[in-house]
Amino acid sequence: MLVERTHTCGEPRISHIGQEVVVQGWAAAVRDRGGVVFIVLRDRFGTVQVTVDERCPDVVRETSHRVHLEYVVQVKGQVVARAPNAVNRDMDTGEIEVIPMALEVLSGTRPLPFALDDRGEAHEDTRLRYRYLDLRRPFLQDKLVKRHQAAQAARRSLDAQDFVEIETPCLTRATPEGARDYLVPSRVHPGHFYALPQSPQIFKQILMVAGMDRYFQICRCFRDEDLRADRQPEFTQIDLEVSFATRELVMRITEGVVGAMWKEVLGYDIGEVPVLSYHEALRRFGLDAPDLRFGMELVELAEMLGETEFVPIRRALDSGGIVKGFTVKGGAGDTSRKVLDQYTGFVRTYGLGGLLWGKVQLDGTLTGPMGKAVGGAPQAVLEALDAGPGDLVLVAAGEAAHVNPGLGRLRVEVAGQRGLIEPGTFEFCWVVDFPLFEKDDEGGWTPMHHPFTNLYPEHLDLLGTERVGEVLSLAYDIVCNGTEIGGGSIRIHREDVQQKVFTALGIGPEEQQEKFGFLLEALAHGAPPHGGLAIGFDRCVMLLTGADSLRDVIAFPKTTSGQDLMSGAPGEVTAAELADLHIASTL
Ligand code: AMO
Repeated sequence: MLVERTHTCGEPRISHIGQEVVVQGWAAAVRDRGGVVFIVLRDRFGTVQVTVDERCPDVVRETSHRVHLEYVVQVKGQVVARAPNAVNRDMDTGEIEVIPMALEVLSGTRPLPFALDDRGEAHEDTRLRYRYLDLRRPFLQDKLVKRHQAAQAARRSLDAQDFVEIETPCLTRATPEGARDYLVPSRVHPGHFYALPQSPQIFKQILMVAGMDRYFQICRCFRDEDLRADRQPEFTQIDLEVSFATRELVMRITEGVVGAMWKEVLGYDIGEVPVLSYHEALRRFGLDAPDLRFGMELVELAEMLGETEFVPIRRALDSGGIVKGFTVKGGAGDTSRKVLDQYTGFVRTYGLGGLLWGKVQLDGTLTGPMGKAVGGAPQAVLEALDAGPGDLVLVAAGEAAHVNPGLGRLRVEVAGQRGLIEPGTFEFCWVVDFPLFEKDDEGGWTPMHHPFTNLYPEHLDLLGTERVGEVLSLAYDIVCNGTEIGGGSIRIHREDVQQKVFTALGIGPEEQQEKFGFLLEALAHGAPPHGGLAIGFDRCVMLLTGADSLRDVIAFPKTTSGQDLMSGAPGEVTAAELADLHIASTL
């Protein structure tokens, strides 16, 4: 019969010796040693050893032989000290054991599809199919608990700053965040669809017009986009919006929330967060989410190489391209040809023709393709790159759109391979002054953040001119260890400016009304200046727990092909259900 537990499995210590306890949990290990049965009982809080021997009643000894791995067991017994030679220092409860006076199997299990030890070696698909077993592993439970702690810390931080937690709808209209929408057909309105929100962007702005002053929500966002290790189709944001906000105020509030999470989970002080402009980030690191945990900054070399006849560089410079490089200290000796070929293959995936490398010899000469590029006079280039004997230089020439991401990612790859990143360190930065628009694949303009982002007032006149690409936005991203963990902006709060931006994006008056009429109308009814940001909560938890994948910090994640292997979603529906929704499949 089930009784209430007196202690969790992780609880009993020397101070409990002599006490009678009731513990319940899963059999994490069962060993039968010549009539003595050892059962390690596990719950969320830890493990405790239950030892069944001659001190136990016969019925308990009989039952103990029927306990198998992952059976659910209730033990009523006495806490005793272990013999000195049986003390287990690897277990928090390793100085004691429980001698059961009553033992009950509460539940059994079918044969286990994989071993639940904490190495997690089973194929991920199998683990996701049986997620309830996978999640029993302390490795994953620890991540979910830390996720909870981070969420509570964020809530406390925002609550203390007068934010109100408000829920916004999931069945709504499309919000443009750059991905495809998940659509939900309406049964009542044939041919009409709800969209699941890519973010609560428009609703939170409308809450500012409604006078709520400070809003936040730990909310789910839905984006149908190509998935990667740091992207899930449904993910969680800590979403916030502030009335009468300057950019600096939103940045300060965000640092408070992020700082609270890092402090709570890791006891880590995030310190002052440096601010870089978008252009500076690209120039020095090649990426708009720079990893500041190590050096090896990129250096522009066009000036020193302007006279070279070396074909790859000449061609790049003559067609308006750039040349950049970085130095790997001490890399000349231990970077083999094979590794250099691997680096070359790596940068090619970013559209570069190849990688120009050079090894600085002891006499100061440069070998490799860069040796050819500089001819007999490597000094200026080596000085710019701060390279000396024994160093390796890695250089790329081509369009900026290829050189920057190619070298920027290679920098991170090389740092990882060479162990230049100290584990357990975090380097945060803000990136600001993004262009308002960027070119899309069809050559049109698309918002770099989203179309509600405000711009520098002095750039307003550039909208609609051929200089629209120069317009700078009031958007900001917060980056940690090279991962964008949050992004936001000061918003447009005037209807006429919003219309102007829509028009510059090629969204005509009719489409503006059809898609965003309700926002434009709200802006025309006394909208306060406002701004906000959304923190990618899953990504933060990933960094806080050292996980390699978002799937390890989400209780029920989707695979890279968007499936939930446990529930079998997405699933088929019957013809009748489709007919109800006025939908016919073309398959
Ligand atoms: P944005 O689109 O930059 O901004 O998203 C904010 C943060 O959410 C995280 N993120 C993701 N995490 C996991 N999986 C995904 N597919 C995914 N996509 C984004 C990132 C990102 O920095 N409405 C605006 C915010 C605002 O302007 O206030 C928005 O959603 O960490």
